Amino acid sequence: MDTAIWKPVALVKDISPDTHTLRVMHEGEAVCLYELDGQVCATQDKCPHGNASLAEGWVEDGTIECPLHQGVFDIATGKPQCPPVTTDLRCYEIRVEEGTVYLRADEA
Ligand code: FES
Repeated sequence: MDTAIWKPVALVKDISPDTHTLRVMHEGEAVCLYELDGQVCATQDKCPHGNASLAEGWVEDGTIECPLHQGVFDIATGKPQCPPVTTDLRCYEIRVEEGTVYLRADEA
């Protein structure tokens, strides 16, 4: 039985069709939502390399490019793809029901 707690954070339609991103707050952390050809993903919003919001970056071919120093991450895995980024992004478990995006809450 799935006892996980899922918290609503946004509507899918609120994810920008231009940038394919939306910054939301989840349990005190900034999270970036991505809409990729109908699939929604979520990673931490703050770039681990510096003080940049990935929601302000560029989405291309399943990757997000940081707006500050152009580090690139794979959105689905959080893996860095090129310098200067070397640290994985945290990826969040996500669920979409009736147009609402839910993120899994940390265990208490
Ligand atoms: Fe993101 Fe430097 S702050 S690559």
